[in-house]
Amino acid sequence: MRFDIFSLFPEVFTPYINTSILQRARANGIIAINIYNIRDWTTDKHHTTDDTPFGGGGGMVMKPEPIFAAVEGIADGKPDCPVILMTPQGRPLTHVIAEQFSRQERLMILCGRYEGVDERVREHLVSDEISIGDYVLSGGELPALVLVEAVTRLLPGALGDPDGAFDDSFANGLLEYPQYTRPPEFRGWNVPEELVSGNHPAIARWRRQQSLLRTLQKRPDLLEMAELNQADIQYLVKIAEEHAFCLPEAIRKRLDIP
Ligand code: ADE
Repeated sequence: MRFDIFSLFPEVFTPYINTSILQRARANGIIAINIYNIRDWTTDKHHTTDDTPFGGGGGMVMKPEPIFAAVEGIADGKPDCPVILMTPQGRPLTHVIAEQFSRQERLMILCGRYEGVDERVREHLVSDEISIGDYVLSGGELPALVLVEAVTRLLPGALGDPDGAFDDSFANGLLEYPQYTRPPEFRGWNVPEELVSGNHPAIARWRRQQSLLRTLQKRPDLLEMAELNQADIQYLVKIAEEHAFCLPEAIRKRLDIP
């Protein structure tokens, strides 16, 4: 899969894409990441990439010409892949969106800066807008890295452990179960018996139940979309009673609980 990233600060990407999973995925030919400096497509003496907003007001707006020239230059015309603008106004990034992008052969990612980009970029070049959360960063560079990593983790072979991404939080619509490693006892705190039992069905059951409990405690909204079997629902009803949690509406409906 190929990522083309357009930014005014291309140097911020280098250390991160040369580390860990992204570096390995690049070395193994699973992904290629090209970083382009939008400034290279300016044509004036001062290499201007931004200007004051029409109508007045503070801040600067990224000019359309270098952005169009950069993207259309690299795409050799009108891009036939998604062109994603990283912006707090975009769709909030989720596992499902990352999965959809992971089926593409190529993604172009635009990093906005300042007060944003000229609206004509949004209207005539960008095909999707993605946010990484309801807060404002100084630019789209960190959000672009977040998107690239979230997508790359889902590509076959990108993680050392083939089940890695499969077990992650959100992959099955639930939060991940708690993890422990050696030593089995630390300061008198023991690893749960089930995990050291060697009994694989018991381990799988414990993990599933912990995922359900965590999700109910921390992100009950996720349970409305998660795939749940009868045993899951029975367990949720039991723990909701025990802990006096309120079950999400969708689960109460499934069980005919008022
Ligand atoms: N650019 C600035 N803030 C952002 C955010 N929260 N998500 C995506 N792009 C951004």
